[in-house]
Parts: sequence; C-alpha cells; structure tokens
Amino acid sequence: MPQPVEAHVQALVIGAGPGGYVAGIRLGQLKVRSLVVEKDQPGGVCLNVGCIPSKALITASKYFDKLKHGADMGILGDNIRVDMTKMQAWKSDVVGKLTGGVRQLLKSNGCDYLAGTAKLTGPHTVEVRSAAGPAVGSPGVDDGKPRTTTVHADNIVLATGSRPIEIPGFKFDGARVVDSTGALAFLEIPRRLVVIGGGYIGIEIGTLYAKLGSHVTVIEALPAILPGTDPELAQVVARKLRKLEVDVLTGAKAKSWVDKGSHAVVTLQTGDGDKGESVQIDADKILVAVGRRPNSEGLGLEALGVRVERGFVPVDRSMRTNVPGIYAIGDLAGQPMLAHKASREAEVVAEVIAGHRAEMDVRCIPAVIFSDPEISTVGITADEAQKLGRKVKIGKFPFAALGRAIANADTDGFVKVVIDAGSREVLGIHVVGNGASDMIAEAALAIEMGALADDLSLTIHAHPTLPEAIMEAAKASLGEAIHIVNR
Ligand code: NAI
Repeated sequence: MPQPVEAHVQALVIGAGPGGYVAGIRLGQLKVRSLVVEKDQPGGVCLNVGCIPSKALITASKYFDKLKHGADMGILGDNIRVDMTKMQAWKSDVVGKLTGGVRQLLKSNGCDYLAGTAKLTGPHTVEVRSAAGPAVGSPGVDDGKPRTTTVHADNIVLATGSRPIEIPGFKFDGARVVDSTGALAFLEIPRRLVVIGGGYIGIEIGTLYAKLGSHVTVIEALPAILPGTDPELAQVVARKLRKLEVDVLTGAKAKSWVDKGSHAVVTLQTGDGDKGESVQIDADKILVAVGRRPNSEGLGLEALGVRVERGFVPVDRSMRTNVPGIYAIGDLAGQPMLAHKASREAEVVAEVIAGHRAEMDVRCIPAVIFSDPEISTVGITADEAQKLGRKVKIGKFPFAALGRAIANADTDGFVKVVIDAGSREVLGIHVVGNGASDMIAEAALAIEMGALADDLSLTIHAHPTLPEAIMEAAKASLGEAIHIVNR
C-alpha cells in the first residue's frame, strides 16, 4: 500500500511548462511557500517536445540547406549529407540542458518540485499520485514505492497546457500517423511526408523536412496557408515553399488513409461537394497538425464548479477563475497558445497570490512563425485598425534594399509598419524575412511604450543590421525613407 503523505503550501502549481515553472520561480522569489507538480518532464511541451527541439532541428536543416546551395558564395562542399541519429542526439542534448536547468532554478528560488499527477479533491486540496521518489517535504523518504500525497494549498494555479487535436480517420499511432512530438523525433528522414494542417506547426516542421530532403505535401482545409496571418506576409512563405518543391494543397481536407505495408496512401478531398475531387497521395509518414486543445480534463474541475468553456478555463485579468483561490494560466486559460504569453501570466499570478496588485495588462503579444522566411508580428494590421475606425498610414521596407540582408543572402520579405495617420502612434509591426524572430523585440517594446513612428525613425540603428529595416519602414510611413523611393 502506498504511504499517504500530507503537506501544506501557500501555492500549488499544476504543470511545469513555461507557465507553471515560471510561476514557481516567481512565487519563490516573492517568498510564497510553493510547490510545482509535474507528471511528465519539467519544461512542458515547449522545452521538451515543442519550441526548443523544433528550433534545434529547424536550425540544423537551415545550415544543411545553406551549405548545399553555398556555391554562389564560393562555398564548395561535396557529398554533404545528414546523419539523422546524430542530429537527434544533438537536439536531445539541447533539450536536456534547458530542462535540467528548470529544476535547478526552482530549487534555488526556494520552490519545491514534485513529480506526479495532480487532481483537485477540494477547493484547497490536491491529491498527487507519484510513481516513486522522495515525498514532498521529506527529502530523505524514498522507498521506491508509488505514493499519494495530499497537498493542502491556500492557492492553486492550473498550468496544464494543451495537446494536439486528433481528427477522425487519423488516430496517432506513433508509427505512420504522428503529432508534432513524433515528427520531431524521426530517426530517419521520411522520403514522403504528408502534413495535414498548414498552420504554425505544419509549416515549421514541413519546411524543416523539405530542407532535409523529404518530399513534403501540405494539406490545408482553408484557401491559404497560415490562416490568421496577413496574406501579404504568408504569400512570401508560400513562394519559398514552392522553391523548396513543397506541394501545398489548399482548400483540401484529409479524409482517410490506408497502410499498404511499405507505405501509406492518404485520401483527400479538394473543392466543395459535387465539384470536389478525391485525390490519393503516397506517404511514408503523416503529420497531423490541425491545432491544439487545452488539458482541462481529469483535474476534478467540474466537481468543484470551476467554469470550463470549450476546454478552456476562463479567467479575469488577474488570472482568477470563478472559484476563489483557483487560478489558470497559459494555454489552458485561452488563446494565443504561446509560451511567452504563459510566462507573463505566470508572473502576474505569482504577484496576485503574493498579495500585490497585478493584471495581465499588455498592449500586445508578439507572435513568431519559424517558417522560411520567418514571420513575426505584433500589434494590429491595417485592416484591423481600419475596422476599429482608425485612419492609418503604412510604411514598408523590403529586405532586398538592406545591406545586411543582401550580405546574408537572405533578401526575401519586408517590414510593414502601421501607424495612426493623425497621432503617428505605432499600431502594428509585421515582418516577413529571416531574422524576423529577433527583430520583433524592438517592435513589441515600441508598441508597449506607445511609441510614435518618429521614435523608431529617429533612433539610430547600428549599421549594417537587420533592424535598420524597422527604422526605414517607420521613416517610410512618414514619407522619409532614405534607402527606397518614398511614395
Ligand atoms: P494552427 O491552428 O496554427 O493550424 C492548424 C491548421 O490546420 C489551420 O490552418 C487549419 O485550417 C488546418 N486544418 C484543420 N483541420 C484540417 C483538416 N481536416 N484538413 C486540413 N487542414 C486542416 O495549429 P497548429 O499548427 O497545430 O499549432 C497549434 C498552436 O501551437 C498554434 O496555434 C500556436 O499557438 C502554437 N504554436 C506556436 C508556435 C510558435 O510560436 N512559433 C509554433 C508551433 C505551434
């Protein structure tokens, strides 16, 4: 029989992703006695099977692709090839460095960590089932047996994240049909990869395998890839996908697949109803990336009356649910499902629990798609601004006119700055181009601080660097660009 163990903390955090572990660190800093419970690995989806491993493989595939096409730069290499086992080992090393650091950070900030599965059994009580290992608060006790720990907590923070959505006919089997986790762990480069869903994940992972040599087909139900992204930006990525010989089938729905032993055959439907056509595609692997759903089941929320809407747990600006003492952050608390949004909410919830006044009061949350070229956006688009009744001016600057981009041999894309025509306030900055992921920090700061186009334009930007494109686009919005003709 497992030994029952009891503990009391001021705050218990369920989940150790970029929401939960950041909450734990900040709670520790604020001297709130806290415990983070995690049923899997510390670091959550982002560090273990999402943002970090995908960026590791995207970087490796980019270097491979650049070297293969380096002849124009005078780089000549024969027989450049990929050792996928080694690439995966390197990726795991990258992940290990970061996840190992999470527990260390929690510890050094005075926050306890417990491996186990948590379930709420009362508004201030959580039961944690652990496979084995030390009991919370009793580091010496490790009899190697599973145990249940009852934790009494003044406050409970739900930070359980999200998981990939499955679609009918494409059950994840870890062999032919995989989710993003499976696709980031391939030990062989699939000869033919079918990607269902042309969103963030489908395009990032599809591009990486296309660069490593797979023939990739993307099946997207809507009329264009990356729905929700300014079409002018998404088109630049679509053009590059064509160059990489990725087949992008839009307005197409994946219906079913059959295993033919040596490979799979995917059936998809293009067009609507009678006008539709059924198409078959051979595949070695099928990646399903049609969105993610929050992990709100099995936590005991319904029994406690915690409101759950379409899987999400609604919260106010201080991350409070409808039940006092219970909070939710990150993917579970709603869109956008982004790690950096979860981390900011984690800081807010820690401050609130520590008794400070804090709110999720941000003007903007940047978003990055690690496609080729990268897309990053912050603030609103010109269309959105006009719908809000604002008159706007737009300044655009192409990377083809920027010294650094030319020297990088990466000239696809542009920066678009949207400003209020009257006040000149910066409303949105939208970048498509390699390096966009790093450039968006300046843009987010500008909008967060209520900067005017003049602030970006008059700030001296180091030369030759990519962020000069933001300065030039801001100048262009004022009709004062230097390195392009103003229109
Ligand atoms: P997504 O919502 O970005 O894209 C899913 C796509 O699948 C949509 O374009 C949708 O129209 C399409 N689709 C849905 N059902 C389909 C069907 N039956 N057949 C064909 N197409 C279908 O979802 P994704 O890519 O799975 O990513 C999930 C979330 O993870 C993102 O929304 C984002 O919040 C997060 N994420 C963020 C990243 C980043 O910040 N760089 C990278 C990867 C994921």
